[in-house]
Amino acid sequence: MNSLNRFKTEILHALRKSNRSVSGQELCNALGISRTAVWKYINQLKEEGYEIEAGQNRGYNIVGYPNNVASWEIESRILGKSFLERVYFFDEVDSTNTKAKDLVSEMNGLPILVVSEKQNAGKGRRGRIWNTPTNQSVLMSFGLRPRLKPSKAYMLTLVAGLAVVKAIRNVTDLEAFIKWPNDIVVNNKKVCGILTEMTAEPDYVENVVVGIGINVNMLEFPEEILHKATSLKIESGKEESRADIIEQIIYEFEKYYKIFEESGNMGCLKEEYSKYLINLNREVTVVKEQESYHAVALRIEEDGELVVRCDDGQEKKIISGEVSVRGVYGYV
Ligand code: BTN
Repeated sequence: MNSLNRFKTEILHALRKSNRSVSGQELCNALGISRTAVWKYINQLKEEGYEIEAGQNRGYNIVGYPNNVASWEIESRILGKSFLERVYFFDEVDSTNTKAKDLVSEMNGLPILVVSEKQNAGKGRRGRIWNTPTNQSVLMSFGLRPRLKPSKAYMLTLVAGLAVVKAIRNVTDLEAFIKWPNDIVVNNKKVCGILTEMTAEPDYVENVVVGIGINVNMLEFPEEILHKATSLKIESGKEESRADIIEQIIYEFEKYYKIFEESGNMGCLKEEYSKYLINLNREVTVVKEQESYHAVALRIEEDGELVVRCDDGQEKKIISGEVSVRGVYGYV
């Protein structure tokens, strides 16, 4: 972390965790910098939209936050209590997945997070593009080196899905659900997509990137996806805090990731996952290359497969990545 970002992170952390004003002197002592330097960083934060009261002899008090997702905002929330080694923030990148892949490799596999305000070559599944307006979404990618066989890494999409659903429910009043394997829906429309990518040797995973894109505060969508896409703001009727959502995703993801990495399967998370799985007992169309068939979704298995009952009564296990599952009467 460069020193400018580190000091801003530490000042925000100190102001956030204190339920009283923090004096300039306390900040100087904690950070090992001069009063003038503290004042300079406080002013920078104010320019970014932080409302910081500074009374004479009363010290600094933070009373309002901008809806931003800069690394100092995220890191000041998780300092000392997260598995992440670093959070990187960019105003614009090609894709946070691509960036995270390079950075986790540079960090020799230590867990990192990349957050950006904008992507100019955001990646969706099946080669699609994921482009969203600036400042209105969450665009983030975890870079990880899990102790897993390469054949198990795809399940990280399910782990992330569970974390996102929990985070949206923790922060908003919305009932979010998982549409297996990689979408999160609210009121039957997509609010989030997840893209997991891996670099591996035949017997070990070099790096995995788990990319998460959430429609948070946008109010408009292109005509062609209006019937199946929505944002948290459209559904809740109010502006939602992107930093709150990211903080909660980090917290929930860490919890589930540790359980998953321990066992290498979804066994211990299956029950929790199923509570939020919207597909359960719904009619679906399973699409595999040119072929498609009608079925009813029954459950997920330990290895993350979705079990469906076909019209002839036969049960089939379907693997994420191989097929897509669509609702019979709409997107879900
Ligand atoms: C999909 O539903 O097709 C998956 C979309 C995944 C989009 C996210 S946005 C953050 C991360 N960076 C990317 O380039 N893609 C993922």
